[in-house]
Amino acid sequence: MTTPRLQLLVGGARAETRADAAAVDGPSAARVAQLVRRGNCWSERWVDQFLPTDLRRLSSQHWTPLPVTRRAAQWIRELGIGSMVDIGSGVGKFCVATALAAEDCTFVGVEQRPRLVREAARLAETFGVQDRVTFVQGTLGELELPLASAYYLFNPFGENLHGRADQIDAAVELSKARYERDVSLIRTLLRQAAYGTYVLEYNGFGGEMPPGYRPVRADRNLPSPLRLWRKYKL
Ligand SMILES: C[S@@+](CC[C@H](N)C(=O)[O-])C[C@H]1O[C@@H](n2cnc3c(N)ncnc32)[C@H](O)[C@@H]1O
Repeated sequence: MTTPRLQLLVGGARAETRADAAAVDGPSAARVAQLVRRGNCWSERWVDQFLPTDLRRLSSQHWTPLPVTRRAAQWIRELGIGSMVDIGSGVGKFCVATALAAEDCTFVGVEQRPRLVREAARLAETFGVQDRVTFVQGTLGELELPLASAYYLFNPFGENLHGRADQIDAAVELSKARYERDVSLIRTLLRQAAYGTYVLEYNGFGGEMPPGYRPVRADRNLPSPLRLWRKYKL
């Protein structure tokens, strides 16, 4: 693994002026945060409204839905998970919404696209969780993944197999070769992880979990399957 080349952007990074700020027309951020915290926010739009319009449009396909963050937060609380890294954190929706309902857990999102890192940091600040939710710009394989009790994977490499219309943008390499490289990298990282490490997988990551990982929770009543694995000694 090469030396990390990281640009750390904390949630409190200085906010830029949002061209489409006027598009926010739902409940206030404080009210939405309260609803998410209590598990009572039933509209994706109420969270998504705080994203720029073009990124909001990608939500149903690329960002974790709220029912998934609710279930994740419940499992984090039940199992006392104290830290989580979202591998491919996008606009930060998973980290921010889950953090609101799992108040004893810290989150780091790792994301290759600098613009998404900036927007994620802004979302964390909007919802007041920037002390526990931070984002790092970097690409898997070029950075040392932060250590955590749990890692989250929402099919991060699937975009490599999509046509242009279903991709986030054309700013990064997207190809079948990269897909295979990234899936293999993740399997290596999971093989190296300490016993007791959890992996939360939503809609898979494109490969099989390495030996030693056993399912400890599952929810198949979500838009895609959500599974929590724990690594045990073989
Ligand atoms: C399906 S989105 C999930 C976003 C976020 N985890 C969520 O659930 O809301 C996958 C994200 O992974 C990022 N990604 C994909 N491959 C990556 C890599 N090799 N290194 C860093 N980020 C990556 C993409 O840029 C994209 O933002």
